[in-house]
Formats: sequence, C-alpha cells, structure tokens
Amino acid sequence: MSTTPVPVSDQPVLKLSNVESAYGPIRAIRGVSLQVRRGEIGTVLGSNGAGKTTILKTISGIIDPRKGSIEFKGEDITAKDPAFIVQQGLSHVPEGREVFPLLSVRDNLLMGAYTRDDSDGVARDMEAVYGYFPILKERAGQDAGLLSGGQQQMLSISRALMASPDLMLLDEPSLGLSPKLTKEIFEIVVRINRERGTTILLVEQNANMALNASDYGYVLENGRIVMEDTCARLREKEDIKEFYLGMKEEGQRDERRWKKKKNWR
Ligand SMILES: Nc1ncnc2c1ncn2[C@@H]1O[C@H](COP(=O)(O)OP(=O)(O)OP(=O)(O)O)[C@@H](O)[C@H]1O
Ligand SMILES: [Mg+2]
Repeated sequence: MSTTPVPVSDQPVLKLSNVESAYGPIRAIRGVSLQVRRGEIGTVLGSNGAGKTTILKTISGIIDPRKGSIEFKGEDITAKDPAFIVQQGLSHVPEGREVFPLLSVRDNLLMGAYTRDDSDGVARDMEAVYGYFPILKERAGQDAGLLSGGQQQMLSISRALMASPDLMLLDEPSLGLSPKLTKEIFEIVVRINRERGTTILLVEQNANMALNASDYGYVLENGRIVMEDTCARLREKEDIKEFYLGMKEEGQRDERRWKKKKNWR
C-alpha cells in the first residue's frame, strides 16, 4: 500500500450519488451525481426551474431525497436532520436571503453561531465578517429588515460564515442585485474561499459570474446534469458561450426551440 498522502484538494468534501428529489408527483431532480473537492468553489448552472434550489435543499436536509445518497466529509448525511447537518460544518445561504427582519444585524450574525460554544472564536469571526462587509459593522445595531437587498445578501452570507463552516452552499447570490453589487459579492465569496479555505458550492443562473468565480462546474437542465468540466474549459465551449453566456456571433439566428426557453443573464 502506498504511504503517499492523498493531496487535500483531491478529496471530495461533498459527494452526491444518483440523487432524486420530488415534490409529490413532480420529480424535480433525477440521477444527480456531483462532487465538490476540499478547498474549491463548485458551481451548478441552470435556468429557472432547473432544480438548483432543490439540489441545495436536499443536501442540507430540508428535503429528503427519494433515491441516492449524499456524503459530507466521508460521512453519509442522506436525509439527516438540517440542524445535525449544520453541526457537521455545512451552512446554507438560502435563495432570497431570508434574514430575520426584526432582529438587529448583530443578532442575525449571532444566530448563525448558535451551534458554537467558543465565544472567542465567535468574536473573531464576527470581526472577520465585518472585515469582508464593513457596511454590516456600520449597521450592526439596526434591524436587518431595513437593509437593502444587497446588504441582506451580505448578511445572509455572513450569518452562514458565523457557523464556521467547512462547506457553504450559496443559492443564487446574484438574484435581484445590480451587476456592480453582484461583482462585489462574488469577489468577496472568492476571498472567503481563498483566505479561509471554505469550500463552496454555488448555484446560479448568472453563468458568467459563476464560471469566472468557480473552479469546477455542472450544467443542470430539467433536473438532470447534462455537462460537467472545469470552469476554464466550460467557458471555452461553443455551446456554453452561445447559449449560456450570450456570446453568439452577430447576424446569426438560431431557431432551436430550447434556446428560447433559456433565461440566462
Ligand atoms: N414546493 C414545491 N412544490 C412543487 N413543485 C416545486 C416546489 N419547489 C420547486 N418545485 C418545482 O421543482 C422544479 C425545480 O425547482 P427549483 O426551485 O429547484 O429550481 P431552480 O433551479 O432553483 O429555479 P430558480 O432559478 O427559479 O430558483 C421546478 O419545476 C419547480 O416548479
Ligand atoms: Mg432556485
């Protein structure tokens, strides 16, 4: 047996095998297999209703899958309780941010740390998130409901960080934000990954931002993964450029029906 240690980056932190989830008769995702390696940013790209949110909810235990399995750090977490999964080091930043509007920004952050009993570490992480998003420090005493959409997204990401996660799930951080704010938030997400070593799985309709920020990507259509590759290679693929990044040559018309359904920004 070889004694050479496996490089950390080759170990999957998260592994989905053949996962299927449904809402009653509606099978939202089918045969979904994907991996996120330690330290990387993984992304799932898909248009409206492709099943992105369903994948994240299934990972974090909000929905129990009908089939398949989910491993986190080598342990089976399939259909485990969401609170248990958070305790294992997996935080979920939900679609549409979902901050507690009547709690102050500071108390929202402390809610993120509710599973921890290391008050020194919590205080350090509070300073760290204020470093990433200084506006949250300025607004620490204000009700979170008074923040702008972009600031609420910052708070939602920061609240997830307060659990000191090994893996953070991000559901469409760009949703409803201006291009400038989206760029700022993605830059911070990349910094969090590089500086803290937090592994990230990001789902997006904004293929452009997601492919630039991430290392490895999956394309999801109608609940199935139809393509996967490094983001560097996905960015170069003609059909990705044409259909997902809006980089079609001028003057050409494409009559393929499925293209018209797409709603990529
Ligand atoms: N609570 C629900 N009840 C019934 N069907 C649902 C429910 N939530 C989602 N679906 C359906 O499951 C499919 C996948 O939805 P999901 O929300 O995972 O997609 P998504 O990729 O996150 O879309 P979006 O980009 O709009 O957020 C869609 O067909 C959707 O209509
Ligand atoms: Mg969604």
